[in-house]
Amino acid sequence: KTKTAVFISGTGSNLLSLIKFSKKKRCPISIDLIISNYVKAKGLKYSVKFNIEKKIFSFKKKNLNNKKIFSYLQKKKIKLICLAGFMEILPSDFIKKFKGTIINIHPSLLPKYKGLNTHERAIKNEDKFSGCTVHYVSKKLDSGKIILQSKVRISSKDNATSLAKKILKKEHKLYPASISKIMD
Ligand code: GAR
Repeated sequence: KTKTAVFISGTGSNLLSLIKFSKKKRCPISIDLIISNYVKAKGLKYSVKFNIEKKIFSFKKKNLNNKKIFSYLQKKKIKLICLAGFMEILPSDFIKKFKGTIINIHPSLLPKYKGLNTHERAIKNEDKFSGCTVHYVSKKLDSGKIILQSKVRISSKDNATSLAKKILKKEHKLYPASISKIMD
């Protein structure tokens, strides 16, 4: 199985969907490491629940040598990195080093709405659809090659919160499907 690290900053519902996926028969990956930039990230509870090693690491702390995380991931033989609500921008040397092995899930139909507040922007523009995208991570933010996308209809009653919820549900299916696709 492909050893995988999942990077999180928040609730970790995508992490949970990936853990569940990894436990399925014939799943091509195992989740061996959870990395969070934030000690209080709620999703870290899944490290305890499923007995998966966790590490707290922030790329923003420049004084902390980024090489540490490189060598740690290498030591652990991590071959796939899944960003799942990881809210830091990865430094370009990190992306270069792991090129082709880092994927991200983003809550919009890329190339629309890169960056933050995707749902607010889709609603403000009166879009009929939004959705989520899994893509390879490249140096330019939210711009790497797209693996899969999933669409949801925006209703006139939707606000950013309700739309986020609808999309998150789709994300939980899209991330595993995208991994199956690239591992095929
Ligand atoms: C998800 O909607 C994910 O697409 C988004 O954060 C949420 C994390 O939820 N990611 C980004 O906005 C990345 N820029 P989760 O912690 O429950 O998986």
